[in-house]
Amino acid sequence: MIEGFIFDLDGVIVDTAKYHFLAWKRLANELGIPFTREDNERLKGVSRMRSLDIILKLGGHQISENEKEVLAKRKNIWYVDAISKITPAEILPGALPFIEQARERGIKIALGSASKNAITILDRLAIDTLFDVIISGNEVTQAKPDPEVFLKVAEALGLPPKTCVVFEDALAGIEAAHNGGMKCIGIGNKEILGNADFVVEGLNAISVDEVLALDYNKINTNKNLD
Ligand code: BG6
Ligand code: MG
Repeated sequence: MIEGFIFDLDGVIVDTAKYHFLAWKRLANELGIPFTREDNERLKGVSRMRSLDIILKLGGHQISENEKEVLAKRKNIWYVDAISKITPAEILPGALPFIEQARERGIKIALGSASKNAITILDRLAIDTLFDVIISGNEVTQAKPDPEVFLKVAEALGLPPKTCVVFEDALAGIEAAHNGGMKCIGIGNKEILGNADFVVEGLNAISVDEVLALDYNKINTNKNLD
């Protein structure tokens, strides 16, 4: 029985994935490293420092830990500047009604984000009260695909992992959910998020009842669903 829904933040509830991309792109340009939207898929869901490592590897750059700290800080300043201006208009279509519908059904609601800026974003959009539990990048040591963030959420909710469904837009996040023994709905492009149990374009494209009615055992052995 499904008792908890765990939402990733960036790219699932709010359209901040584009700001992460733009800030990393700006840094990559400065470093003379070619960086495409396709490359960016590998950064989604992973921590700030892991993201930087991926970009540096793309450019074949090897730098000291101190220099990495400086670059990561620079990227974060640009990113924080962008999110300081976000408005509720950037909440993704269907996200709020979906969460509210789930709450009404008695499902526990949580946030499981890799971002150390998650609380700033929730405050800015005044949506922190939607969640029973919030675990952000400040509370974890292991980046997705490690399941730490989702397992901490499940523990705080008091739910066994197998009763939780995670909503994720990132390959690393989907892997993290599965590594934690949870179900996972991919939010985005089916071609990219093939490792999810089920993929929808957005939370406006599925209802709470549909999520609850999915036969996850069947999906796991047959992912070619349309
Ligand atoms: C995730 C994003 O939610 O948070 C990643 O998908 C990002 O792109 C990660 O790198 C860490 O975010 P922050 O805000 O701590 O740099
Ligand atoms: Mg995300």
